[in-house]
Amino acid sequence: MIKILFVCLGNICRSPMAEFILKDLAKKEGLAGQFHIESAGTSYEGGPVYPPARRKLAEHGIGCDGKRSRQLIRADYEKFDLLIGMEQSNLRSMRRILGDDPAGKLHLLLDYTDQPGDIDDPWYTNDFDTAWREVERGCRALLSQLKSRLS
Ligand code: 4NP
Repeated sequence: MIKILFVCLGNICRSPMAEFILKDLAKKEGLAGQFHIESAGTSYEGGPVYPPARRKLAEHGIGCDGKRSRQLIRADYEKFDLLIGMEQSNLRSMRRILGDDPAGKLHLLLDYTDQPGDIDDPWYTNDFDTAWREVERGCRALLSQLKSRLS
């Protein structure tokens, strides 16, 4: 089983979208049992998925009931195989919380695609369509790479 933790700032927009998109993609490919997928934030918001992000998931038939944001903690480094941030500033905060990355577990989601870069924070841009497209593109690319690891 591969354990994946998606990380953003608040854990109410981008990383929950990534969590539930990847769970959905894996399920559709019959691979749900191969992965353990969660999400966390580098700051603590302590609430449910933000309504515009929840609506984007719902538009695609994906639910996120019961998800409450939680903060990234140092113990997550041992617990997960991959800890995947959405933008450079997430990676900086992740290193601050987690310390060194001797096992090379820290990555950016779009680095799995052929167009690496940051996924801008829709909390500030209010552009949930772009965030959705980029998160989904990243998750598809990630899943295709992970599938080659499983075989
Ligand atoms: P996220 O977006 O990191 O994609 O969950 C944010 C949500 C809330 C805040 C910042 C970013 N906030 O400052 O409350």
